Amino acid sequence: MTGVNEMRREFIPLSIPNFGIEEERNVLETIRTEQVSPNGTFVSAFEKKLGTYAKVPYVVACQSGTAGLHLAFLALGIERGSEVIVPTLTFIAAANAVRYVGAEPIFMDCDDFLNIDADKVQDFCERECFFDGEKLINKKTHAVVRAILPVHIFGNLANMERIMEIAQNYNLKVVEDATEAIGCYYMNGKYSGRFAGTIGDVGVYSFNVNKIITSGGGGAVLTTNELLARRCKFYSTQAKEDALRFVHGAIGYNYRMGNIQAAIAVAQLDKLETFIQIKKNNYEAYQSRGIKLFPFQKNIRSNYWFYSCITTQRDNLIEELKKNHIQSRPIWTLCHLQKPYLRNQNYYIEKASKYHAIVVNIPSSTNMSLDDIDAVSESLKDFLDIVNI
Ligand SMILES: Cc1ncc(COP(=O)(O)O)c(C=O)c1O
Repeated sequence: MTGVNEMRREFIPLSIPNFGIEEERNVLETIRTEQVSPNGTFVSAFEKKLGTYAKVPYVVACQSGTAGLHLAFLALGIERGSEVIVPTLTFIAAANAVRYVGAEPIFMDCDDFLNIDADKVQDFCERECFFDGEKLINKKTHAVVRAILPVHIFGNLANMERIMEIAQNYNLKVVEDATEAIGCYYMNGKYSGRFAGTIGDVGVYSFNVNKIITSGGGGAVLTTNELLARRCKFYSTQAKEDALRFVHGAIGYNYRMGNIQAAIAVAQLDKLETFIQIKKNNYEAYQSRGIKLFPFQKNIRSNYWFYSCITTQRDNLIEELKKNHIQSRPIWTLCHLQKPYLRNQNYYIEKASKYHAIVVNIPSSTNMSLDDIDAVSESLKDFLDIVNI
């Protein structure tokens, strides 16, 4: 621990793990009991614990959030040649998972909380497609639009009430990319009390190293549908139908979470509520130093995962922070501008381009000290006149 702290005095990272004796003890147990495969007891314990926490009956632990998104599309039977509505302002994994099953993403704009714009999704379905009572058909490509993939960005939540309504009206499946949103839930409306990732047909969490809780790498698929859960598990375990004779019923994947990852994840999940409180306190500590941060929605319980500020001098600010040994980053390059997707349809991308140019993520680790927050705030000070929303 001293080593890490010494390093952090010289460098303040964006978002790093926060481990303690509990993770160490669990990992030691996997080694001492020689239970390190996906059949180990921590994997099923983690699935059970996460199901209880998120109030869903079925959880399938897997290797990563990306694997979870792929499993979701496989389980839902999203066919080659069909289309899925995906936000352009997100990590590329969502679009890639659509491609993994041979479908094509249609890129959508974001709203003022950086989440998929539900109004534009509605507009797109209404104006650019026709619905024959069963299928939504894209007038331009003649492909069937099969699903919507809302992504909950940075600790804010997409408008699931609208998304689910649109999905119902047009017979679309919904896969929630809740990779960043574990611990977030709605506090009013139809889904009051429901956690991110538990409203659509399938939801996906990530436990990679920069997430609020981490297992090094890892993910989980959540659903209330037993058949979908069984399919996710089937595809994640090489589609094995007979474990003795190695009979495989389809093309499967080696996506199951391992026991060492699960051992860490179990200990981390116990700390999730504490981490959310720390994130909230640190967010408020920045604000109390005069740093106006991008807001978290008032009508949700946020997990305060990733802090952002707004600046018209994005690249200068990133450079200034780097000079002061502080890690920061701009938003991901928008998906519709990424090489593999240049030919894909996109629908009036406006706000995503605007926010991409002015949002900078700043350090938000749960183990950062008040000295760290002072140091980051000090570096942001010269930009304060423009760090305003
Ligand atoms: C929005 C979003 N989607 C998908 C992923 C993919 O998760 P993983 O890195 O666990 O594959 C991430 C995390 O990196 C993410 O932030």
